[in-house]
Amino acid sequence: MGLNLLTDCHVATMRARPDDPLGLIEQAAVVWDDESGQLLWVGPVAELPAPWRRVPLQHQGRGGWVTPGLIDCHTHLVYGGQRSQEFRQRLHGASYEEIARAGGGIVSTVRATRQASADDLLVQALARVDQLRAEGVTTIEIKSGYGLQLEHERKCLSVARRLAQLRPIQVCTTFLGAHALPPERVGQADGYIDDVLAMLVSLHEEGLVDAVDVFCERIGFSLAQTQRVFEAAVACGLPVKLHAEQLSDMGGAALAARYRALSCDHLEWLSPEGARAMAQAGTVAVLLPGAFYFLRETRVPPIALLREMGVPIALATDSNPGSSPCTSLLLMLSMACTLFQLTPEEALLGVTHHAATALGLTDRGALASGLRADLALWQITHPVDLCYSFGQRPPVQVLQAGRWAATANGGPP
Ligand code: NIG
Ligand code: FE
Repeated sequence: MGLNLLTDCHVATMRARPDDPLGLIEQAAVVWDDESGQLLWVGPVAELPAPWRRVPLQHQGRGGWVTPGLIDCHTHLVYGGQRSQEFRQRLHGASYEEIARAGGGIVSTVRATRQASADDLLVQALARVDQLRAEGVTTIEIKSGYGLQLEHERKCLSVARRLAQLRPIQVCTTFLGAHALPPERVGQADGYIDDVLAMLVSLHEEGLVDAVDVFCERIGFSLAQTQRVFEAAVACGLPVKLHAEQLSDMGGAALAARYRALSCDHLEWLSPEGARAMAQAGTVAVLLPGAFYFLRETRVPPIALLREMGVPIALATDSNPGSSPCTSLLLMLSMACTLFQLTPEEALLGVTHHAATALGLTDRGALASGLRADLALWQITHPVDLCYSFGQRPPVQVLQAGRWAATANGGPP
């Protein structure tokens, strides 16, 4: 226990320099304290100060590349059941919206999630978390929104908290009570928002909520209903996020920006006004290529507009049973490049630095002294390899808060 030194490695710090968006350091050294869990020094090995050369615990990177631990900043990975039959229906021509309006979609997962015990949900969610961890993920966000009643929303958020006790991973929870109208509230959307506000207060008092989200959409909630939830979040002192402009342009992004939202997510239908408002508010655009792919969408998020306005871009799995039954953040890197034409550098910043910002976290997502010692050591030839190959999992060793964490894909070096 104590000071650690990693050498024989290269580092992508994710701290941009002119002409070097990833802040690459070849032949690098990394020093950290496994008690505080903090990085103490990151730089070229040739410049490593003499005292750090003799620290007691020394590790060899075998010429691999170190990145910050990856961050999956948008998931719904605590749920019961699955929806492969809907997938089949969609392939026969039914749309995601039609299935939702006919009582399937999110509501069918709500039924399965309500029936499941907390322990069942935990076992299933652990398997998903372990798949993400095996790809170098050290921080995830998990949304509720498949309970839609106090006891079931509490059950899901408590499972999310327990995941972080059972595995070396940090979990940020997001209350998404306004995800869909539960069956017992059909035709009473405003009345259900009253329920959402009451749930929010209780769950926040129980310490289960880190942020608040709404599904603002024709098949979700209106702008006015979204605003009521945001007002309640502000009253609780909680930051907001929004599922915005996924299937249509509802003007959700501009509303979210008025509440200084951490992020707006999906954004296929984002307007120039929405993008401008996000840029001014510092709201991150979280793109979800898995949902785009799986719903066979054709309208790509306005990447050129986001670049022009200077909106930071993050990427996430959106892991959920209906629109993205996927637990591979590496696959999202590939899809973001091929489907959305992000550059590999943008994609990599999207699962590190900008993903941290989308969660309001300033202590991770990059490698520099004073930040958390969350990192992934990959046996690859260059960080771009992570975007280039797909359906593969390069060997990786993961350090979480300064401690090596075994994954299904590698133990300590
Ligand atoms: O982010 N759009 C709303 N929520 C999820 C899908 C949820 C589901 O279909 O179960 C999403 O895509
Ligand atoms: Fe989502």
